Formats: sequence, structure tokens, C-alpha cells
Amino acid sequence: MNTASATTDYVLGSSDQEHDRLIRQAKTLAPYTERLFRDAGIGPGQHVLDVGSGVGDVALLASGLVGETGRVVGVDRDANALAKARARAARAANVRFIETDLSPQQREAVFSRLPPEYATRFRGPILPTETIPVHMMNVFTEEAAREEPRESIMHLLRYIGERLAASATASGARQIENRAERGQKNLTIDYEEVLRERMIVGTPGRVIDRLQEVREELGLDGILAELNPGSLIPHAQVMRALELLCKEVMPQFK
Ligand SMILES: C[S@@+](CC[C@H](N)C(=O)[O-])C[C@H]1O[C@@H](n2cnc3c(N)ncnc32)[C@H](O)[C@@H]1O
Repeated sequence: MNTASATTDYVLGSSDQEHDRLIRQAKTLAPYTERLFRDAGIGPGQHVLDVGSGVGDVALLASGLVGETGRVVGVDRDANALAKARARAARAANVRFIETDLSPQQREAVFSRLPPEYATRFRGPILPTETIPVHMMNVFTEEAAREEPRESIMHLLRYIGERLAASATASGARQIENRAERGQKNLTIDYEEVLRERMIVGTPGRVIDRLQEVREELGLDGILAELNPGSLIPHAQVMRALELLCKEVMPQFK
């Protein structure tokens, strides 16, 4: 077991604040994670390995799906996260957590068993720069739509910026990641530039136009929608944004 670099080269760190954020994030994503797992065929009696199990939310969800005859093993190198995960899973007899710091070779061994399209995505940087978050608001003027997620988006960028900057000289940080420069950029970028260069925010009409533009520019054939960047957008608005995305935007791209 090697925990020497446990908290140094993982950009989002292992603070209580990060653990709380993981729990909030898991709660929002739970229905989608569960559907993904069911679609992937996870069910009674199966054995699941959760790599990077954090405070245990995904492992606990899998534990419910595999049932009494199945097993879930979560591995993580963050001892504090594991202590919380074990406490939360105290009543789930089919889950256990193991502390270990997976080497790049071990991670490679896991990723090499994934289908190529996933393997490529997960091998990349933790926060891939090619991701284009999409958010749509439940309002009808562009001005109001633009302003509603401002606080949450800027909170997210500052959060990532602080962590990138703080981990720039940590052992395990690779030069190719440019953490100092990317951290500084996230700490100083203003909202106008975010909307120009990084994110698509607006009414459905505006989102359709921008997606058409980026599709032509970048040759995209799919998007990953980030409906609550920063986690500060109220649940009702996130659900409304999802509804608008499905009912008004998606039909334009079929
Ligand atoms: C996004 S968090 C986990 C989220 C978690 N699966 C959940 O259900 O909320 C990623 C986790 O990977 C762990 N991690 C990162 N690099 C690791 C490594 N080399 N070996 C083991 N754990 C690692 C971190 O400590 C962190 O807890």
C-alpha cells in the first residue's frame, strides 16, 4: 500500500469540503448513475469494482443493485474519505473499502479493459479542457438567461482554479497539465469570456444556434450537458433546464 501521494496530485483534493461536494454531486446524479448501471447490465449477484470510491456514494448505489448475493469493492487512496465511506456503508454487508494508491500501471490495467471510447476519455486529464458545459435557463430574455447561472459558474471556476494552482508543484503533477497556468486562468477569467469561449448558456434558441456553430467548427457528434456547473443552481431550475434541453434543443439535432 502506498499513500505517500494520496492528497497531493489529485486536483480536487481530499478536504471535508470536497467530500461534501461529492455527496451533493452524487445525490443530483443518482438517477442517471443508476440508469447507466442498469443499462450496463449491473444486477443481482454481480461483483463490482469501484475505482476511486471517494466517500462511497457510487459503491452504495451499486450495492443496492447487486443485492445480497453480489459484492462491491471500493478502492481509494484517501484514508479520510474511506473512513466516511465505511461509516456510511456500515449496514451494507456486501460492500467493503480498501485503501490503496493505484499506480499509473494499475490504472492502465483497469482502463485497458474498457471499450476504447471510454478508455480514451478516462485516461485524459481529470478536468478535460475539451468539455463544453451547456446550461439553459427557465427564462425568456437572453439577458436574464445569461445572468441566472453566473454565480454558480464563477464559483466553479474559482474552485477549480484554486485547486489547480495549489497542486501545481505537488509530486505527481505532470508538466503537460500546465496546472499553474490553467489555475491562474480560472482564477482571473471573467464571465463574458467564459460565455464566449468555454460554456454555452442561454435560452433554447441561443443554445441551438451556438451548438450548431460549435458542431461545424469542431465537428462534434455529441455533447455532455452539465446542467448545474458549480452546484449552486436550485434543483427546480436544473430540472427545467433538462426539460428544455430534451424538448426544445434535442429535436433540432435528430
Ligand atoms: C471524483 S472522486 C470519487 C467519486 C466517487 N466515486 C463517488 O461516488 O462520489 C475520485 C476519487 O479518486 C481517488 N483517486 C484519485 N487518484 C487515485 C489513485 N491513484 N488511487 C486511488 N484512488 C485515487 C480520489 O482520492 C477521489 O476520492
